[in-house]
Order: sequence, then structure tokens, then C-alpha cells
Amino acid sequence: MNDTSVSERGLVLAPRGRDAVVAVAMLSEAGLAATAVAHLSSLVAELQAGAGFVVATEEALATADLHALSGWIDAQEEWSDMPFILLTTRGGGLERNPAASRHLDLLGNVTFIERPFHPTTLVSLAQSALRGRRRQYQARSRLEDLREGEARLRELNETLERRVADALAERKLFADMVATTEGAFLIMDHDFRYLAINAAAMADYRRIFGVEPRVGQTIHESLAHAPDQLARALAVWRRALAGESFAETSWWHAPGLPERAYEMQFRPLRDTQGRQIGSFLFGQDVTERVRDQERLVEANARLHEAQKLETLGQLTGGVAHDFNNLLTPIVGALDLLRRRLDGDPRSARLLDGALQSGERAKTLVQRLLSFARRQALDTCPIDVAELVINMRDLIASSIGPTIELRITTPEGPAAFALADPNQLELAILNLCVNARDAMPAGGVLTIAVDEVAIEAHDSRGLPPGDYQRLSVIDTGVGMDPATLSRAVEPFYSTKGAGKGTGLGLSMVHGFAAQLGGAFVLTSEPGRGTRADFYLPRTTEEVAFPLARPDTPAPAGRHLRLLLVDDEDLVRMGTAEMLRDLGHEVTEARGGSEALRHLDTGLEVDAVVTDYKMPNMDGAALAEAVSERSPSTPVLVITGYAGGGVQGGLPTLAKPFRQADLGRALQEAVEGRSSTVVPISRARS
Ligand SMILES: Nc1ncnc2c1ncn2[C@@H]1O[C@H](COP(=O)(O)OP(=O)(O)OP(=O)(O)O)[C@@H](O)[C@H]1O
Ligand SMILES: [Mg+2]
Repeated sequence: MNDTSVSERGLVLAPRGRDAVVAVAMLSEAGLAATAVAHLSSLVAELQAGAGFVVATEEALATADLHALSGWIDAQEEWSDMPFILLTTRGGGLERNPAASRHLDLLGNVTFIERPFHPTTLVSLAQSALRGRRRQYQARSRLEDLREGEARLRELNETLERRVADALAERKLFADMVATTEGAFLIMDHDFRYLAINAAAMADYRRIFGVEPRVGQTIHESLAHAPDQLARALAVWRRALAGESFAETSWWHAPGLPERAYEMQFRPLRDTQGRQIGSFLFGQDVTERVRDQERLVEANARLHEAQKLETLGQLTGGVAHDFNNLLTPIVGALDLLRRRLDGDPRSARLLDGALQSGERAKTLVQRLLSFARRQALDTCPIDVAELVINMRDLIASSIGPTIELRITTPEGPAAFALADPNQLELAILNLCVNARDAMPAGGVLTIAVDEVAIEAHDSRGLPPGDYQRLSVIDTGVGMDPATLSRAVEPFYSTKGAGKGTGLGLSMVHGFAAQLGGAFVLTSEPGRGTRADFYLPRTTEEVAFPLARPDTPAPAGRHLRLLLVDDEDLVRMGTAEMLRDLGHEVTEARGGSEALRHLDTGLEVDAVVTDYKMPNMDGAALAEAVSERSPSTPVLVITGYAGGGVQGGLPTLAKPFRQADLGRALQEAVEGRSSTVVPISRARS
């Protein structure tokens, strides 16, 4: 059975006699499909499968339980109203038959036909019922179409709403992102009018230009107060609005505001047809980053500079030390010859010339050693302010009358720094002479002493602590960066051959470093130069008289001496000087030879020894001597103080002249050694 045959069939419920067979036959004859059902329950089952109409006898319903049937009728869909044709018995009309009216209520769409009836009546009733049923089916399909359409519409509505909501949410997300991002975002149109500005761009404008631009305003209006900035901004925007995509970092600031480094990226802004309608700017303040990079480069340069000086110092120190050793016997021998010479004035002049050259060589070597921080220093606590004040006349005469000298020193109690006073004076004089040379047409030379406290991480590399700062400030020609960066290098001079050794600042620099301080030069061409000399403060008071008398070699008494030096030439020269002073000298080539002399009964009043010797140095020898004879003084001759002679031994720095040697020996024998080498005691 196909669908139509089920939906259009008639169901015939006529359980008594041949009624059903007759009715089915009548209908079939008229071309109407019909099925007989035996019971009410099978009728309900068949109805569920589908039917066009129902023919039922009154008796079939009269006694049956109609629950299932009324349940089915109530449960019909709203389009469905199943037509029933009820065969009643004669006289069973509505008004006389209460059972029939009950069935009318129950069945709803019901037609009564009284038996006996003509077959045509039944057929025509059945046909009209079926037509009615067909209309119901049409209504059903229209209803279904309608519902389907409605469902589609609802679905469409829902997706549309969702898409709109999604799109809005996405736009809002983008808008929020742009509005709140830390990167600045700005759009400009072809008339240089701001189309959009986010909060970060607004803040950047405020910080850099001191103004807040408005959307709709032109850049000319917003930057009217800073014409040069406007001109530069227009230049980059013109490139961007010409369609270029590019990135640029540059410095910006309006008058009165600090400079900021700003990184900008430009991109064209296009409409849906791809035409450019403006340009985007993505910006970021990168001032800190750029400054950090600059600081790094600067620190690297300083480190490089320091390393260069260090290396130069090592080289120079080595050469100067050897040179010093060579110079010692030369100067010594010349000195002796000059004394022994009587009568021959030409030879005397020659020797004097040679001695003068020797002296100059000595100062040069001294400066080199000083740069290399290997100078023998006699340090003691010094009131730098007092030292400078005492030097006033000396300085004034060195700089001449065209330069005004100003000295400023701090008020309050004197402060002390550890330094070698002679070397410090030399350093100050060097700086003053440089200042004088920088002011050929006159000017002002200021020497300022003040006290400064250095915090951690000092840019000059000074360890934290309290310092005495001595500044020599001139109003001279100044230095360009290239000269400034090389000024401290040994032998660097702009003063022409024979005029400057280029060792002045080298000496000052090395001296400051050797004292645990620092030397800092600042200068600009045409603006003068400032030299700052930092000396660590000490709490010690002045313990010794500062001035050392420049007395000639004291006559002294005749001494028995043991002289120890591994270098034959030097030893011979020194021995000659000592003998010339009237002493008796026994020579030894090293510590062990010297000790052998003492152990085999040599009696001496003092031992004079070189410091730097293989196997046993001067200090070790001094210790061995004092074990054998604690009262025998030992004078140590040093090439340099770097490395330090320990234990407060009397020392004498090379090169020396006979008078220096005589005085040092005298002091050692008299036990006044402490005034000669306060450094080791003062520091320990
Ligand atoms: N106060 C200053 N003003 C300008 N330039 C200076 C000053 N001090 C030093 N310089 C520059 O630094 C260079 C090196 O100075 P330094 O004192 O080491 O040597 P010098 O003065 O040339 O020679 P010397 O000191 O042996 O006479 C100088 O030649 C000069 O170019
Ligand atoms: Mg100089």
C-alpha cells in the first residue's frame, strides 16, 4: 500500500452480520478504497496508520469502551478532523436518539445515515467526506510549508543577530585594543588632519610637544608653537602620505621640554577600493633604550681607554725601570768625575752639560714611572688646601701676569688626604703650566679644593668614599674630543717638537691612580678645560714635618758598609759614591754572598742593598740580616715603590745622586728611617 491509498482509504467498522462486506463492496464499486476492521481496537490501530474517512455502525460504538478512540481523536493534529459516517437504525435521529448526540460530541466531524439506505447515499456521503479529508491534507501541507518557512526565517534571524553581535564584539575588541594599547597609534589624512589618535599617542604628544591634538585638527594647528618640530614632522608625514611605508627613529622636543627619542613606523591607509586615503603612524617612545645604548657605547669606550692606558703603563713602566737602572751609574759616575775634576774648565763645562742632561733624563724617567704607577712615593696625610695656598707664589710666577689666579678652598676644619707632597706639587704645577699654555692671551686660572662624597657606581670608576678634589680650571682654548681622548697618553702632545714631552698629564693620571684616586679631564674647544684630581680622604693627622731639607751630603762618620747589588755596573757606581763619601765598602753580588760575608765574621755598621734581585730580594735579605744582628740598619735601594718594600725599611729611590745616598744612609744609621718611607707605615 502506498501513502495515498492509506491516507484516502475508508475504514469500515461493522462487526454484525454481512454489513461490513456489503459496505466495502458498495464503496469499492464506486472506486473508493475501503478496509473492514473487526474491532474498535483495530480501528484505532488502523487510524494511526492513516485513513480518509471512517464508516461505523451505531451498534459497534454503542456498547464499546470508547476511551482509546476518543484519545486518538483528541490527539489529532490541528489540521486533522477525521470524517465519520455513522450508520444508525431507523428512528435513531438526533432529536430522538440521545446515544447519537453523545457520538456527535465524541466524534466531532460526523454524518448520520439511517438504515436501510440506498447505496448511492453512502457512496456520495463517502465521496464528500473524502473531499473534506483531502482539503485537510492540503491545509496540512500548507501549514507545514508555513512552519518550515517560519523555522527558516527564525534561524536566519538568529544567525543574523549572532553575526551582527560577533561583528560588533570584534570591532569593539579592536577598538579597545587600539584605544588601550601602549603603542601610540595615529592616522592622518592628505590634508594633514588627524583622523584618529589613541590614548598612547595622546600621552606621547603631551610629553614630547606639550600639547594634545584633536581629531579633525591639522598638524599645523597642533604644532604651531614649535615651528621647527612642525617642519620636521611635515617632512616625515609627506613621505608617508606619498604612499611610502618606512620606519624612522629620531629625537623630538618642543621648546622647554626634554628631548625624547621616538620610533615611528608609517603605513598607508587605504579604502575598500585600495585608494590611499591617509597614513598610519605606529609610534613608541624609545628614549630609555637609546640612552642605555649610548651609555653602553660610552662605557665601552671608557673601558677601552682604560685598557689602553693600562697596557701603555705596563710597557712604559718596564722600559723606564730598565732605563733608570742604566741611568743610575751614569749619573753617579758623572757626579763623581765632576767632584774630582780640578782646574780644567772645559771638561767641567762638558761634565756639567752631561749632568744636566742626566738630570733631565731623570725627570723624564720619573714621569714615566709615575704614569706607570711605579714611582717611589713618600706619602703622608696632607692638607691639600694648605699645600695649594703655600704654592700661590710659585704658581703665580709660572703662569705670568696676564693670567689671573684664583684659589678657593673649603671653610671649616682641615681635611687630609694621603699623598706624596713633592709629587702632588709637581702634578699641580704640570696642570697649571698646561692651563697657561692654553691661555696665550691671558685668562683666569682657578684652583679649587673641595670635599666630595662618591656614591656607589660612580661613572669615573671611583670606589665609594670621601675624597679631596683638587680642580685646575682654565678659560683657555680647550680641547676637541680627539685631543681630549688622547691627552693622558704618554708622549701625546700638540705643542710641537722640543716643546712638550706629552708626559705631564700622563704623570698626573698615573700618580692619582697610584694613590687610589682618579684624574678626570673635561674640556670643550673654546670653553676651557677642567682637570679634577681626586684623592682619597684619610682620618690620620699629619704625623711628620712635611718639608725635607735639601741639605748637602752630611759629612757623617766613617762607616763600614756591605753593598749588595746583582748588576755589576750599578753596584760599582754606588760603591764608588760611598767610598768617595769616606766609607769602607765590601761588595756582594747577591743576598747569599752577603750573608756568607757576615757569617764568616765581616763586621759592618750598615747594609746597603738593591731591592729587586733574583733568588733573594732586598726585603728578604734585610730580614736575614736582622736575625743575625738586629741592630744593623739596612738601606734598600728601589727602582720603584710598586709592590712595596714591607716592614718600614729605610729606602732610597733610583736614580740618585751622591748627596741623596749620603743623606739616606745617614738617616738609616740614625734610625730616622720613618721620615723617608712613611708610606708603608702610614698605610699598614
Ligand atoms: N689645559 C689644557 N687646555 C687645552 N689643552 C690641554 C690642556 N692640558 C693639556 N692639553 C692638551 O693635552 C696635551 C697633553 O698634555 P700633557 O701635559 O700631557 O703634555 P704637554 O703639555 O704637551 O707636554 P709637557 O707637559 O711635557 O710640557 C697637550 O699637548 C694639549 O694638547
Ligand atoms: Mg703639560
